[in-house]
Amino acid sequence: MEQKVKTAVVGCGMISNIYLKNLKNLFSIIDLAAVGNRSMAAAEEKAKTYGIGRVMTIDEIAADGDIELVVNLTPAFAHYDVIKKMLLAGKHVWTEKTMAVTVDQARELTELAGERGLYLGVAPDTVLGAGLQTARRAIDTDMIGSVTSGYAVINRDQALNSEYFTFLRGNGGALPYDVGVYYVGALLSLLGPVKAIRAFGAPAPVHEPQFLYVNGAAEPWQIPGCNVLSASLEFECGALVSVLFDGNTVNASQHELTLFGTRGVLKVGDPNQFNGPVTLLYADQPACTLPFTHGYDGTNTVEQTPFDGYGHRGVGVAEMAYAIRRGRPNRCSKEYGLHCLEVLAGMEESAATGRTVEPKSRFAMKPLAPGFYSAFMGGTGRADAERSLMD
Ligand SMILES: NC(=O)c1ccc[n+]([C@@H]2O[C@H](COP(=O)([O-])OP(=O)(O)OC[C@H]3O[C@@H](n4cnc5c(N)ncnc54)[C@H](O)[C@@H]3O)[C@@H](O)[C@H]2O)c1
Repeated sequence: MEQKVKTAVVGCGMISNIYLKNLKNLFSIIDLAAVGNRSMAAAEEKAKTYGIGRVMTIDEIAADGDIELVVNLTPAFAHYDVIKKMLLAGKHVWTEKTMAVTVDQARELTELAGERGLYLGVAPDTVLGAGLQTARRAIDTDMIGSVTSGYAVINRDQALNSEYFTFLRGNGGALPYDVGVYYVGALLSLLGPVKAIRAFGAPAPVHEPQFLYVNGAAEPWQIPGCNVLSASLEFECGALVSVLFDGNTVNASQHELTLFGTRGVLKVGDPNQFNGPVTLLYADQPACTLPFTHGYDGTNTVEQTPFDGYGHRGVGVAEMAYAIRRGRPNRCSKEYGLHCLEVLAGMEESAATGRTVEPKSRFAMKPLAPGFYSAFMGGTGRADAERSLMD
């Protein structure tokens, strides 16, 4: 059994609830030793709620000789500073999406981690969940032949959502970056790197604060960047995929991810979840939902909380902790995080210039070993899925 990896979480907002619960209870490789935040009151509250031994400032975490891994759950616009500080302090880092808000920043962080021999892992880690790993296995075992094309769609009212989630008003808050990244991550995990991008885009509306139910801004704001993107992606494997992210509509989400192959069609469930159902279609046959071949299906095996809908977030941290101990590459790698961001930024660039954009970065992501489960005894007990994260 490997020595546990001493871990600290930085950023104690909404998503920290599920990370802290999972990192504390689900993964024997993780020793969740400390939490830190800009405002210490929030860190103290989370430490009390989730039973974490130490509350530390960000600087104390950076300076602590025992902490090996820092999990960065601050808003996207703060990622670059936090990640850089922790890498310079010699820590391995896991970060929530997106790695940074510009490709240049993400490239710099990727190079810095590489030069220092440190791991940098990047969400979304839903790609390691039961739904997307089952879809990957269906493709890898040739169940639909060669993937020739596909489409991915998600819609929301991002301006309305930014009334409540104030961090959405800044860089990284537009729908493609905030939610589209799950679809891009899923496509990358299933099909590999993108070779070329063409896109059209539209901005978010200017949001007038006088109509707000939840107030919090005296001035109108406009979420930066394209809030609607319609793009064509050419993957290196040859698949041509249409992507539509629309943040200028309503919160009646129509999440779609469908891949067409030479022998079948695969419909993949919501990539923002760990348990999106995977449905196989063959000509003249009834549609068939595949059993999950992998663990981490979002099943909660520990006392229930209001945040359990976020499923197994944190699985990428545990997978990276095993990678650190075993000296192998981690799956949600810095190169995967950089490519996700390059694809998103490439769509914006193509929309702005009318040109084809070719991402420079490349990545590889091995699938997890199948045959392990998150829960047994009707979901009451934790099963053996952690073994699938080891190699
Ligand atoms: N809200 C969601 O549904 C959701 C889901 C998945 C992932 N995420 C991602 O997780 C991250 C955090 O999201 P959230 O919803 O928890 O945001 P949040 O605003 O609720 O929490 C962010 C926390 O980070 C702290 N913080 C801000 N700047 C900081 C800094 N420079 N140093 C240290 N702490 C700082 C804030 O005080 C706050 O406690 C984002 O990258 C987001 O994209 C959010």
